[in-house]
Order: sequence, then C-alpha cells, then structure tokens
Amino acid sequence: MALLLTGGTGFIGSHTAVEFIQAGYDVVIADDLSNSSADVVDRIETITGVRPAFAQADMCDADAVEKIFAEHAIEGVVHFAGFKAVGESVEKPIDYYRNNLLSTLTLLEVMKRFGCKVFVFSSSATVYGENNPIPYVETMPAGGCTNPYGWSKFMNEQILTDAAKADPSLSVCLLRYFNPIGAHESGLLGDDPSGIPNNLMPYITRVAKGVLPKLSVFGNDYPTVDGTGVRDYIHVVDLAKGHLAAYKYAAEHTGTEIFNLGSGRGTSVLELVETFKRVNGIDVPYVIAPRRAGDIAEFYADASKAERVLHWRTEKTVEDMCRDSWNWEQKGAQKR
Ligand code: WQD
Repeated sequence: MALLLTGGTGFIGSHTAVEFIQAGYDVVIADDLSNSSADVVDRIETITGVRPAFAQADMCDADAVEKIFAEHAIEGVVHFAGFKAVGESVEKPIDYYRNNLLSTLTLLEVMKRFGCKVFVFSSSATVYGENNPIPYVETMPAGGCTNPYGWSKFMNEQILTDAAKADPSLSVCLLRYFNPIGAHESGLLGDDPSGIPNNLMPYITRVAKGVLPKLSVFGNDYPTVDGTGVRDYIHVVDLAKGHLAAYKYAAEHTGTEIFNLGSGRGTSVLELVETFKRVNGIDVPYVIAPRRAGDIAEFYADASKAERVLHWRTEKTVEDMCRDSWNWEQKGAQKR
C-alpha cells in the first residue's frame, strides 16, 4: 500500500516525505514542479536511502491523477500541492481559486473511485482571520480571511468537511500550520523561494549571505513585546512529524478533525533576527520600514489539542530553526 504526497517536492512536502519514508511508508510523490525542482527527489533518496516513486503531474488533471491511482495502491493522500503566495493571490485570484480548489475536488473524485478514504490537508492559521483572540483554538470561528490564498484554504476546509459528512467512511484531517521555517539538518532540503522572498526567514538568510543588502522590518509600532510582528514559528521537521502523527490518527478514525500545528509560543521579528545573528555569529543588517498591508500584530497557536489527541508537539527550538535555516542557505539553497 502506498501514500500519495501531492506537492511532495516542495518545502513542507519534501520534509514530510522523508519522515514517512523513515517511518516505513511506501511514498509516491506527485508534483507539477511549478514551484520546486525534480532534484529534490534525489535529495530525499540521499537522506533516506529510498527513492520514492515520482510523477510530474498537475492535481487538477483528472486523467493524470487517475493514472497515479491506477499504478499505485494509494491508501491515503497528504495534499500539499497548491499556490501559496499571499500577495500573488491578490493579483491572480482566479488562478488561485481554480488551482487550489479544483486540485482538491479532483483528488476527492478519484479517491472515491478507488476506495481511498484518508485525506490529510495542508491548511493554514490564516483561516482564523483577524478577529479571533490569541492563542488560536481549533473551535474558534474560521473565515474572515484577508486574501484569496487564505480564502482558498478556508474553502478547501469546507469542501473536505462536507465530503466527510456525505461519506461517513471518509477520514479527513485539516492541519492548520503556523509559520514553518528551518530546514533538514543535512542541508539538502529547505525553503527555496524563487525571486525576492515574501517570508521572513528566507529573506534573513539571503541578507546574511549577502544576496540581498538588508532586511526591512515591516513595522515596529505594533502592540507587541518590542513593536514588531509576533508569530508562532515551527521547525519544518516538527511540522513533518506532525503530519505523520495526523496520518496515523486519520487512518484509524473517520470524520473530520482540525489540528493546529504550532509551537504555542510567539516570537517577534527582532527576536528572530537577534537569535539568528547570535547562533550563527553573522550580521543581518536591517532597517525599520512601514507596516506591510494585511499583516496583523500577533498570532500563535494553542497547540494542546495535537498534543492531547495526536501525542505530538514541537521539539525543536527557535535556535534550531535559525541554525538549520542558515546551514541550508550555505549548503543547499539553489536560488533559481
Ligand atoms: C512573518 C513576520 C512580517 C518579511 C505568511 C502567510 C501564511 C503562511 C506563512 C502559508 C510578519 C515580518 C516578513 C520581511 C518582515 N504561508 N516580515 N520583513 O505573513 O506571518 O504568514 O507565511 O501558509 O499563510 O500569510 O509570514 O514570514 O511573511 O512574516 O518584517 O521581509 O515577519 O511583517 O510580522 P506571515 P511572513
């Protein structure tokens, strides 16, 4: 029996592939390579000693998805594939809704035809919107998103919840990620955005490396510990292990469960910058810049449900995240 990881050559998907392979699962990776490269499969093989099956495929292409299920006895799906740039989603909403929703609908239709019953979905804390109190809890109202990317995650959660209501044998886990950073300790896998990074950590590592001149800290007048934005950073390897725990749970249950995957702790921009400088012994020049549109001051997870139900919690520290991110920038990042 095999497990299908869609988007499995991406940042989180590749790290999750390693954890599933090392746990003994037979992994099939499908990716359209629109935002990653095929050499990630080689790197996964180097780390694990096992080469996962790979299909270059668009999850919106029903024939391509059908072919994967016909060639492999897929017992479950972890669905990472999707567009994920917040700013780009505002410019290209139709592309985002089409790709991020049709891929899920196509997978559900093919899964039904093949009797595949387990669906773990890559959701995001962004579905909590701007009006929930922190720390975020899974039972809080979701929606009120501020961009098409966030709405597409929320809509996918609704699609999957309704599909599980209609088919009591279906098992769905909605995993709400907080801020994934860090990289595999080997330096072979990591976050490798093309162009100028939107997210904080890849921007920091490129400034440290001298690829970019300085970091702009988007606002220091928020009502937070030091005025800069506070987020719940989670090491990507901890996040990958969270998928393993969620999948095991989903394989033994039916219905829909939502889990926050976060550390439960907030870290400010300046705290992260200073930690990065300290643990790596390198400077990160920065300037204070205006707030970024759409940002909120502070959010972090109540991570207790995943610990209680999945017996999973984060183990790596912010120091580990900074150390592993820098190691990746020096050893593995390709910066296409
Ligand atoms: C973190 C903090 C910025 C860049 C986004 C998506 C979310 C998820 C994770 C996919 C904020 C500050 C950033 C910079 C800065 N993605 N910052 N200078 O915005 O919390 O979440 O990525 O699921 O859905 O919304 O992450 O890394 O962009 O920002 O000061 O150059 O760093 O203001 O406070 P964010 P981020």
